Amino acid sequence: MKRTRVVDLIDAESKDFDVLARGWVRTRRESKDFSFIEINDGSCMRNLQVVVPAGIEGYDEMPRITTGASVEVSGRLVASPGEGQKNEVQAQRISLIGIADPDSFPLQKKRHSFEFLREIAHLRPRTNTFGAVFRVRNVLSYAIHTFFQEKGFVYVHTPVITGSDCEGAGEMFRVTTLDMNKVPMAEGGVDYSRDFFGTQSGLTVSGQLEGEMLSMALGDIYTFGPTFRAENSNTTRHLSEFWMVEPEMAFATLEDDYALAEEFLKYTFSYTLQHAAEDMEFFNTRIKKGIIDTLQHIMESPFEVMEYTEAVKLLSASGENFEYPVEWGSDLQTEHERWLTEKKCKKPVVVINYPKDIKAFYMKRNDDDTTVRAMDVLVPGVGEIIGGSEREDRLQFLEDRMKEMGLNPEEYWWYLDLRRYGSAPHAGFGLGFERTVQFVTGMQNIRDVIPFPRTPGNARF
Ligand code: 4AD
Ligand code: MG
Repeated sequence: MKRTRVVDLIDAESKDFDVLARGWVRTRRESKDFSFIEINDGSCMRNLQVVVPAGIEGYDEMPRITTGASVEVSGRLVASPGEGQKNEVQAQRISLIGIADPDSFPLQKKRHSFEFLREIAHLRPRTNTFGAVFRVRNVLSYAIHTFFQEKGFVYVHTPVITGSDCEGAGEMFRVTTLDMNKVPMAEGGVDYSRDFFGTQSGLTVSGQLEGEMLSMALGDIYTFGPTFRAENSNTTRHLSEFWMVEPEMAFATLEDDYALAEEFLKYTFSYTLQHAAEDMEFFNTRIKKGIIDTLQHIMESPFEVMEYTEAVKLLSASGENFEYPVEWGSDLQTEHERWLTEKKCKKPVVVINYPKDIKAFYMKRNDDDTTVRAMDVLVPGVGEIIGGSEREDRLQFLEDRMKEMGLNPEEYWWYLDLRRYGSAPHAGFGLGFERTVQFVTGMQNIRDVIPFPRTPGNARF
């Protein structure tokens, strides 16, 4: 008999045919002559009801067919007389595939806290919430690829191991094969010439610099891959390993950049509402009431575009009692970002033209000499979801800025070559993928939207 998925059986229009269904037992109920079990195989949120008449083949296994056990059922798919489901399976044979001892299986019927479930990250995908999170994560990934592919962007793969710290924030994890107990020393410190790559290297914090090189040949490109940051931030929005989507466009300006960001976000939200409707309904009723309306509202209204200087003025005049002071020249904190998008504008806000001193070396300087062509996209509940900029495409300006910021231009000779040979204006951004999943699902903590979160002090599973 053909392998079938639960989702196909639950919604099947034709009935009265033989089926073979497999899954994990979610609940079990007894009546006089029957047992009712509900099985789930992860193909959708709903469970398939199976009616097990007493005495059928395999019935003697029923005492061990408890919550969490895996089973195989063969029988007939029939219209369900009961409430709450269209179809059910009348079992003719049932067999236990794998037991789940009720004395030790941690996922019993009662609700567990997300904190507890993080401790059992190997089993939490079997809960309703995490099944839905990981299915939505999948649909969002596909939406992202579909958006860029339909627009002709070339998907490129940038390295995970690199020698350059794109953001210059000193948050790179080291990659080394040196013996930590006998580190070879040279004048001035560790002798990296004896390390595996012959130079100091680490895990990438962003694929942007490499992405720019491909963009300056292929035009419009994007990356979608893991990035790593060794920042000691124990917040609900930071991971040490996260996924980033980084498009880069040649012959493009900051205005093109935020236009792309807006079109991109709207497309992925709309795609997800369409293609993960059942899971989104769950988030809408169980996790964050009204999230579907919020997403729909965002899809319908233009984003607010605001100068950094204007944002600081509004924040200073807001009368809010912020924990961190607001002053021109310092970075916006999450509380400031959230006030702008949630209270002031009530929609996504693109803040542009930040002071150069709080942004990375590669951003294009404005004529005022103090700000750069940067943009951050802020959304309600999360704050910054996208960071991007037009890149400095003038060789001399870039070299000067690198020196000012203590970077050695010689180490970035290849990056400077792009400005030496056929330089062109170009722009791009980075979307934090987990923050996007967080926003779309309304999940509070970023650790609950990636299967196996890595955070300071935790790399389990
Ligand atoms: O603003 P960031 O640091 O920008 C860059 O890395 C640029 N090189 C991107 C580009 O222009 N190509 O990071 C981009 C986004 C942030 O807006 C945020 O959503 C996410 O990445 N992000 C994190 N997400 C989870 N955990 C962290 N520790 C993150 N750090 C940044
Ligand atoms: Mg940023």
